[in-house]
Amino acid sequence: MKLALINIKQLVTVASQGKRMKVGAEMRDLGIIENGAVMIENETITWVGRMEDLSMGDLNETDVVDCTNYVVIPGFVDSHTHLVFAGSREDEFAMRSAGATYQEIAERGGGILNTVRRVRAASKKELKKFARKYIHNMLKQGTTVVEIKSGYGLDMDNEIKMLEAIAELGREEVMTIVSTFLGAHAIPPEFKENKSDYIRLITNKMIPYIAQRNLAEFCDVFCEQGYFDLQETETILSSAKQAGLALKLHAEELSPLGGSELAARLNTFSVDHLEHITENGIKALAESQTVATLLPGVSFFLNHQYAPARAMIDAGVPVAIATDFNPGSCMSYSMPLMMTIACTHMKMTPEETITATTLNAAAALNRSHEYGSIEVGKKADVVIFDIPNYKFLPYHFGENHVYRTIKHGVLLEF
Ligand code: NIG
Ligand code: FE
Repeated sequence: MKLALINIKQLVTVASQGKRMKVGAEMRDLGIIENGAVMIENETITWVGRMEDLSMGDLNETDVVDCTNYVVIPGFVDSHTHLVFAGSREDEFAMRSAGATYQEIAERGGGILNTVRRVRAASKKELKKFARKYIHNMLKQGTTVVEIKSGYGLDMDNEIKMLEAIAELGREEVMTIVSTFLGAHAIPPEFKENKSDYIRLITNKMIPYIAQRNLAEFCDVFCEQGYFDLQETETILSSAKQAGLALKLHAEELSPLGGSELAARLNTFSVDHLEHITENGIKALAESQTVATLLPGVSFFLNHQYAPARAMIDAGVPVAIATDFNPGSCMSYSMPLMMTIACTHMKMTPEETITATTLNAAAALNRSHEYGSIEVGKKADVVIFDIPNYKFLPYHFGENHVYRTIKHGVLLEF
């Protein structure tokens, strides 16, 4: 199966020449080719260049898409979501619009624990049914790789139910799905008075079971006041590492606890949120290989402060952007919307937001050798946008500009 995209008005490759991710000024270098072409064989990109360097003989027995009026960009990598869940929380949204805060709602038994009740009551089949709809809509909007976390089960059976749902979706859907165990998302009500017993359940039972059955690639912890402190986070992540899981961390979302420094020290693949990161945290990340994954949709949706993206990029921290799609803190999986918010509220440039949603996001999932740029040898995850130039993506917001999504070399039909 051969596919060629020809006459591409603007081909945004995000080429990194083998580098895992881009930092500093590199984030603004998108490797743009005007009047470009891309050749694909089966799942893989085999040629990228200018139209004038393509010989027409190369197009024999090849399906051809004329992209004269289109912009082509690597498929988005949404490296942080909680997209397997049941129910919805529009009532909490309404309470917030009337003045309640996310923390107040959580303290009253709403928030994460609200969704935990719904997920525990749902079957695996039901969880998959809701998730499938979201996954299809994401592909329509240009996302071709997504990370999904557990964390709404908070006991052995329900965490496994979530992780099995994620694994099955990964086998059944064309979307590439990366699975993360987030048993340490909140303290389950039955362990309210003895958190340390719950942590022991995570480290002694859940992690070994999950690692042995390959049910997750990453382990994540919500490191926050009232959830898991620095010491507890380190205990959980160390046992995950020992069991062979790679590491991620939710940190500095509501308060500056020092999760960034911990992530840098433990060499996690990413540390996510960072709305309250300190100067010291920025310095630690700049000296590490850990990707800072920012979630602009959360600050927007909860009306919280934004992560200091400008200071981080200027200090040389590799920055990625993800949606954090979940029913509480960001009910959106639109990557272009996150780009718009990052430009308007975090003063990132349109170029930086493209690198942050493609190559750097792939690095946050240890996938940038396969995804995140349009380069020879990489998987053919490529999106054709009906826009005059790439700056239109964050600029003309609230609209789906995707003309076609190509996943592993296949032009998807919706
Ligand atoms: O990443 N911060 C912790 N967890 C999610 C929110 C989950 C929820 O509210 O259901 C987050 O924002
Ligand atoms: Fe999250």
